[in-house]
Amino acid sequence: MHDPRPKKRKTILDIKALKGKTPIVVLTAYTAPIACLLDGKTDILLVGDSLGMVLYGMESTLPVSLDIMIAHGKAVVKSSHESLCVVDMPFGSYQGSHETAFNSCVRVIKETRCQAVKIEGGVEMAETIAFLTARAIPVMGHVALMPQHVHAMGGYRYQGRTEQERKKILADALAVEKAGAFAIVLEGIEESLAREITKKLSIPTIGIGASPDCDGQVLVTEDMIGLTDSPPSFVKQFADVGEQIKKAAEAYAKEVRARKFPTLKHCFTKK
Ligand code: KIV
Repeated sequence: MHDPRPKKRKTILDIKALKGKTPIVVLTAYTAPIACLLDGKTDILLVGDSLGMVLYGMESTLPVSLDIMIAHGKAVVKSSHESLCVVDMPFGSYQGSHETAFNSCVRVIKETRCQAVKIEGGVEMAETIAFLTARAIPVMGHVALMPQHVHAMGGYRYQGRTEQERKKILADALAVEKAGAFAIVLEGIEESLAREITKKLSIPTIGIGASPDCDGQVLVTEDMIGLTDSPPSFVKQFADVGEQIKKAAEAYAKEVRARKFPTLKHCFTKK
């Protein structure tokens, strides 16, 4: 039944208030139809720069441009009314200087109308995050495995293997929190370290390949519905939409070849 009450979009305060209470549900959304389907079922819709690899077949997230993120961000925000929308800042749009970061984020917020942005980086990005949050730009942090650092990390390896790495990641998370981020993604990180960080921080941690004890979880939607070829090992597939698309395409092809589709019902005829 249609619910006539206006739907209220979640805010960063709603998300922060969930820490230690209810696990926070996050999925990526890159397009209008997916945003419509997921809206309200997740607390946050993340327009991740993973769209470069998932939608555009890029070899990494590095080539993704600000214009691409804005186009997809606009579609997702316009097609959702309940979930908080966070847009990823792409590589090169925020690392150069505080001013570059501010100008890029302002473009994203003005043009997409999203409620927050996500920025990869720890101690080295803390001053930038502080600069942005002091100027009314809500920031979600992202530490440990940072896909925009793929070349610097020498590949996509899970993080927190050595004592030195663990200390650095903990320092990164603490710096991002101190800089004013409202939440932080912990990606590809040794499980006990994700747990320790979750205990130490007062802001919610959102895990991906992290720990069941994180305050929330995020997955790439296409990975969890079976639309990507070889998803990472930490993904659980909750549906096989890929198989259904293949079956639908086969059924359509069969009917077209047998002249069973279209019938006159699917044509415009004079009354
Ligand atoms: O780009 C992305 O989709 C992300 C999530 C996987 C956390 O950063």
